[in-house]
Amino acid sequence: MLVEYRNGTGLLAVIGDPVAHSLSPLLQNTMIRELGRDDLYLAIPVKRGGLPAFIQAAETIGITGFNLTMPHKTDILPFLADMTHEARRAGSVNSVRIRGNRLEGHSTDGIGFRRALQDMGMDYPDQIVTILGAGGAARSIAMTAADSGARQVRIVNRTPEKAEELCAGEPSLRAFSLNQAEQILPDTDILINTTPVGMEGTGKTGSFPFLRTLKPGALAMDCIYAPAMTPFMSEAKALGHPTANGIGMLVYQAVYAYAFFRDLSFDPETVSRLGLLLLETSGVDPSGAGSL
Ligand code: ATR
Repeated sequence: MLVEYRNGTGLLAVIGDPVAHSLSPLLQNTMIRELGRDDLYLAIPVKRGGLPAFIQAAETIGITGFNLTMPHKTDILPFLADMTHEARRAGSVNSVRIRGNRLEGHSTDGIGFRRALQDMGMDYPDQIVTILGAGGAARSIAMTAADSGARQVRIVNRTPEKAEELCAGEPSLRAFSLNQAEQILPDTDILINTTPVGMEGTGKTGSFPFLRTLKPGALAMDCIYAPAMTPFMSEAKALGHPTANGIGMLVYQAVYAYAFFRDLSFDPETVSRLGLLLLETSGVDPSGAGSL
């Protein structure tokens, strides 16, 4: 897309490795134009270990906010002067704003996922939520679910020790191994895949045979959005479950990240309007039906 720059335009960025295929510049620059703001959002490749040099450059050039993807989400922690409640709970940061020479970190993955869940007519209060995987995305989503009144949050992971570590000290979280998945799905209301199984370009293939025991009518939501119809979704759909991919999480985390960068507080209608605009801009249908 064409973007505008003049002297004084605010600078924002996403950093990571790889970052060339990131949808964030398209989403953020579209949102900036929609809001009539004078900012420009760039994609900057930064390899592991490159954070100190990038932070120094950002301060010099005047980049005042940035998103982080692989491999920086936890490496950034020692550089932060402050963290939001969400970032502390997630133990990772995907959005940083620079105030003077102070870096403040925030995590918008969990709240972005929750807003996408609401688009499916669901929310966490009183629900039993089961999460596949125990990485960074799982932690952010689990903590938001726990803090939003989920009755129980269950973490199912290939390596059970990692699930136990994630649940430690959290009364509403429980850890399970993949072998136990079949037993805990019959009363699960919301099932979330945070593993990379089925993600385009990773070569990680697999299936989810335990889905056959999932409670009838339960929602099956994936964090993956490429392909738009993921293996997890198509297996769940074949069993009659409502499903959604991860594009909603991506667009809403972008909306909340921009609000954080610029200290804005969007009302719910604005979040919905921006979310819809960004879903259309991404060209990915949350239902997996293909292009919007
Ligand atoms: P992120 O931080 O983006 O969530 P991650 O830290 O790589 O990603 O976490 C990926 C999660 O998916 C991990 O919990 C991983 O399981 P392990 O803890 O056993 O490594 C899980 N995962 C990755 N590949 C998997 C596979 N083929 N089958 C099942 N789980 C898998």
